[in-house]
Amino acid sequence: MLASGPLSGKWTTYVCLLSTLSTLFAPAVSVKEHDFKKCDQSGFCKRNRAFADHAVGTSAWQSPYNVLPDSGAFKDGQFQATILKTINDKGETVRLPLTVSFHESGTARVTIDEEKRQKGEIELRHSSKARKERYNEAEQWVVVGGTSLDKEAKVAFEDKTQITVQYGPSSKFEAVIRFSPFTVDFKRDGQSQIKFNDKGFLNVEHWRQKIEPPPEPEKKEGEEAEGEKKEEEKKEESKGEDESTWWDEQFGGNTDSKPRGPESVGLDISFVGYEHVFGIPSHAGPLSLKQTRGGEGNYQEPYRLYNADVFEYILDSPMTLYGAIPLMQAHRKDSSVAVFWLNAAETWIDVTKAKDSKNPLALGSGSKLSTSTHWYSESGLLDVFVFLGPTPHDITEKYGELTGTTAMPQEFSIAYHQCRWNYNSDDDVKDVDAKMDKFKMPYDVIWLDIEYTDEKKYFTWDGHSFKDPISMGKQLESHGRKLVTIIDPHIKNTDNYPVVAELKAKDLAVKNKDGNIFEGWCWPGSSHWIDAFSPAAREWWASLFKYSSFKGTMENTWIWNDMNEPSVFNGPETTMPKDNLHYGNWEHRDVHNLNGMTFHNATHHAVKSRKPGELQRPFVLTRSFFAGSQRVGAMWTGDNQAAWDHLKASIPMVLSQGIAGFPFSGADVGGFFGNPEKDLLTRWYQAGAFYPFFRGHAHIDARRREPYLAGEPYSTIIAAALRLRYSLLPSWYTAFRQAYLDGTPIIKPMFYTHPSEEAGFAIDDQFFVGNTGLLAKPVTDQDREMVDIWIPDNEVYYDYFTYDIVPTSKGKLVRVDSPMNKIPLLMQGGHIFARRDRPRRSSALMKWDDYTLVVTIGRDGKFAEGDLYVDDGESYDFEKGQYIHRKFVLEAGKTISSTDAEGRDPKSIKEGEWFKKARNILVDKIIVVGAPSSWSGKKEVTVESDGTTWTASVEYSPAAKGRAAFAIIKKVGASIAADWKVVV
Ligand SMILES: *[C@@H]1O[C@H](CO)[C@@H](O)[C@H](O)[C@H]1NC(C)=O
Repeated sequence: MLASGPLSGKWTTYVCLLSTLSTLFAPAVSVKEHDFKKCDQSGFCKRNRAFADHAVGTSAWQSPYNVLPDSGAFKDGQFQATILKTINDKGETVRLPLTVSFHESGTARVTIDEEKRQKGEIELRHSSKARKERYNEAEQWVVVGGTSLDKEAKVAFEDKTQITVQYGPSSKFEAVIRFSPFTVDFKRDGQSQIKFNDKGFLNVEHWRQKIEPPPEPEKKEGEEAEGEKKEEEKKEESKGEDESTWWDEQFGGNTDSKPRGPESVGLDISFVGYEHVFGIPSHAGPLSLKQTRGGEGNYQEPYRLYNADVFEYILDSPMTLYGAIPLMQAHRKDSSVAVFWLNAAETWIDVTKAKDSKNPLALGSGSKLSTSTHWYSESGLLDVFVFLGPTPHDITEKYGELTGTTAMPQEFSIAYHQCRWNYNSDDDVKDVDAKMDKFKMPYDVIWLDIEYTDEKKYFTWDGHSFKDPISMGKQLESHGRKLVTIIDPHIKNTDNYPVVAELKAKDLAVKNKDGNIFEGWCWPGSSHWIDAFSPAAREWWASLFKYSSFKGTMENTWIWNDMNEPSVFNGPETTMPKDNLHYGNWEHRDVHNLNGMTFHNATHHAVKSRKPGELQRPFVLTRSFFAGSQRVGAMWTGDNQAAWDHLKASIPMVLSQGIAGFPFSGADVGGFFGNPEKDLLTRWYQAGAFYPFFRGHAHIDARRREPYLAGEPYSTIIAAALRLRYSLLPSWYTAFRQAYLDGTPIIKPMFYTHPSEEAGFAIDDQFFVGNTGLLAKPVTDQDREMVDIWIPDNEVYYDYFTYDIVPTSKGKLVRVDSPMNKIPLLMQGGHIFARRDRPRRSSALMKWDDYTLVVTIGRDGKFAEGDLYVDDGESYDFEKGQYIHRKFVLEAGKTISSTDAEGRDPKSIKEGEWFKKARNILVDKIIVVGAPSSWSGKKEVTVESDGTTWTASVEYSPAAKGRAAFAIIKKVGASIAADWKVVV
């Protein structure tokens, strides 16, 4: 490998490679924190923090940003003006165009750019080809809707010092834009919610010409001291600004040349009266974000968003991980608001909380905290969207409108996935497939990591171990199963590999700062990277996935994109140099956090177009992501470890993904690195059965751990967890439909479902599943035989498995038994949800199975409701109305009915093949938990549907020893697609 890779004769490359290899082969150790920057090792981070400290430490600090008098104009929902930044004591200024937009969707947007200079005014320092503009294309990749201007927005007040614009639903929202200094106060119902630049941390590092120091005059003896004095003076002149990283920056032996000099943007955003802030995934920490400026229990470092390959990440840390979504939601009792910071460059966010005496809400109670945040990005526009809620659902919905919602997944992709690095051969795959059947463990997908390829050349197979991939694919297909193969963005730089030859010949790779093809190291050794920002590159990428090009793949082969941060083993912080160049001559610096998404998206579209007319919804998993990635696939939380604390950390991480609009997420079940003890593995399966994305995965050095290897009693318990997931698939799929429609998270934290219950706001180890009322609290501690579940309301709660009435009271913890074979899972009263109870080998084999409905009667003893969404689970026909969406209601404790949830006239739907067949799927059983005692003695119920009436038998079990009464209505026999009514 060493000898065959072109080492470009560089000693540095060689050393890097060695150190990379030694890391690869070293025994599992935690990520080396020092491989990643701390704030004071990132020039602009340090400068922005220092700027904030300076502002805070200066009495009567004046932000040097003022709206130029008379420059502003409000028209058609938009306020435009020029901000003048005073850059020195002489009063010289830089012009920064400001746009504040008000959208029909109720969001507002504040954008600050920098006026383009006259040609030649600013020369790039190096001979770089980098574009001489602030990066302004993030919107093009991220925003898909919700930005039509609100023509109804109106000026409520205006004078020389400020303008107030009313906007949003019934003009309840207001933005007060003050000019000197520039600040914005966003209000709802007259109360301040979010303030920009209230603390004066606004900072737009303007472009400037580097003043090259005059050539050093030869020093004579005794002049040393004077030289030092000059340095001092220089510092004085520049107001103490630290210029040391303006023009280049070093880290870990790499130099970042900065042809454009300093150009960061920063702003303080205060959430008035809000104690909790959530979001900005991905970090391994609590859902409710911590303070970052030191103090007991707080972080010292800001939260960082700079997508990186942070394997074996440390927990409870603001360190960056693989993906970034710069959406932050703030919540207080009965109110949610949010900001979305649209910037794809390296970004850091400080969070502090303080009692705010100016906060009118604090009056009286006195104890209310406000949260202040400070955001700064290395380059690009300052571009922030503001959401004024007031509910958490309003935030996810509007954010979904803006950046898109979760793509409707293939149904198989929300079932169980079996992965490891690696299944060694097609025989190995077939064997695991057969064993899962033998042990009656359902699964849908088996995965191949990098070793299936011929020497890490993607789109090839290792001919020795995978002799006949098609026969492997066919065996899987015979039980409706799928194969996922990994395809990464690094393309092996070697001879006789047509993919790399084409990449070079067509000039579709990322370039280095000199405009030549970038070469770095990854799994295959020397590699080049496809530049998925380029339309031509995406088109070429699509050609590689055609069945005729990627031989050995077939209709049930799907794709996994890893290493797309991108991971570059010998690069700074294991990624690409920031001065690399992408399509359009944008620097990598500008687009880094978008990189993973553009690649993931390219693969999504490639898979979608494999065969003309094949309109299957693609399944593509990604490790790296950005705002908008939810439109094209699923993510997982990267390289975790087989340890209890990693299991525990996965739950807030997955919840955070949901809050930030990318709910199709999960952690590697079992932990990627290391070998889980059997109890840990078992508990992880029980937790994983509640991740929206449910995959077992293991590192190449980890022992085999397919669930049937666990031995008794573990294998049986794991099989039960898998079957629980499979039986609830109809309800999970219904939750995905909701996420697709309006961005609702799939698993929901307490603050989301119960926004008035303050005691629940920071709880992040239990959650509700979709609209089922299922409240889960997976066990994440060893030997924990009981857990305490926090109860958010006065509803009745039943144990999922025993129908026991759990003795709850609102706002209190209730202790629930959780021996190894039990997942703490409660059913909130008042819901109806669907299951498919017949155990099968895969979800595809369940496609035509009948349904069981579970009715959990609410506290009033009479009422429950819920819904079920069904479609063919694979095509886009649902977009043409080929779906069933039922609403079930139990009324007056007497009738259970099914009607079209969207009020569609059944006759208006032209039924396709799937729909016709689906009419034959029946409601088999209805289990009514908490059935009224008036049902006792009943033997029969009447079922009415389509003008026909028949009877079904009912079996009533009275309440006993803490268990609720329940009734089972058997062989209901009504079509799932039809209107029907059961009368007791
Ligand atoms: C995704 O790919 C399509 C097709 O090439 C392209 O039109 C779109 O701009 C891409 N979007 C992202 C986010 O990469």
